[in-house]
Amino acid sequence: MSYIEARELSRIYTAGDSQIRALDSVDFTIEDSELTIILGPSGSGKSTTLNLLGGIDSATSGSLYVDGQDLCGLSEKGLTSYRRTQVGFVFQFYNLIPNLTALENIELTAGLSSNPLSPQQLLESVGLKARAKNFPAELSGGEQQRVSIARALAKNPRLLLCDEPTGALDSETGKKVLILLASMARVEHKAVVIVTHNAAIAPAADRVIRLRDGHIVGIETNANPVEMESITW
Ligand SMILES: Nc1ncnc2c1ncn2[C@@H]1O[C@H](COP(=O)(O)OP(=O)(O)OP(=O)(O)O)[C@@H](O)[C@H]1O
Ligand SMILES: [Mg+2]
Repeated sequence: MSYIEARELSRIYTAGDSQIRALDSVDFTIEDSELTIILGPSGSGKSTTLNLLGGIDSATSGSLYVDGQDLCGLSEKGLTSYRRTQVGFVFQFYNLIPNLTALENIELTAGLSSNPLSPQQLLESVGLKARAKNFPAELSGGEQQRVSIARALAKNPRLLLCDEPTGALDSETGKKVLILLASMARVEHKAVVIVTHNAAIAPAADRVIRLRDGHIVGIETNANPVEMESITW
């Protein structure tokens, strides 16, 4: 069995008598140590897919196995434990805790893990060593985004889910972040899933999943992905 297996996975939102098929019976697999990129236009179901993978949202139907466990069959308690122990999540809109400093935000998730990475070192690796004591409101959008990436890594999770992790970053900083995320798959052997609009990074991924209107319109695998360092956009 693959590390992740989605089978006929659907998430349908109901509002009055209209239904939004955010994800419509999709099938995909993801292996351990893989860098996967999910591409697709706005509204195609990318965040929905990531939220299901992260145990933040529950599917309407289908199955979603992560490490042999069907998330669709887990209780709320089981999902909480799954989120806490297995998943690092970089949110599209950061979701930092406003009354904790940058460093404290990272320390908070490090504290959930039995095997955390150093919050101080992570802050340094995203280029924010000097901003440890600043609160989120004192940081630019891109700086907050980098804190949220360090926070997701701090837990040292087996599965790292990143929703537009470079959306607020200039190309140079974005590239540094992508190199760091790629190293989490290549060196640390985590499964890393990145949602992005930036198709230019697809050659650096092991697997590219293309979504449109809640459907998968293509899955490509690269036997020999290029180094993230060599990508230009
Ligand atoms: N809580 C919700 N209630 C109703 N509809 C929702 C909800 N969340 C998402 N949707 C709808 O589901 C569809 C997929 O949304 P999703 O957030 O997954 O898109 P996305 O691919 O991440 O888009 P973007 O690139 O803009 O972030 C959209 O049509 C969206 O409006
Ligand atoms: Mg989204």
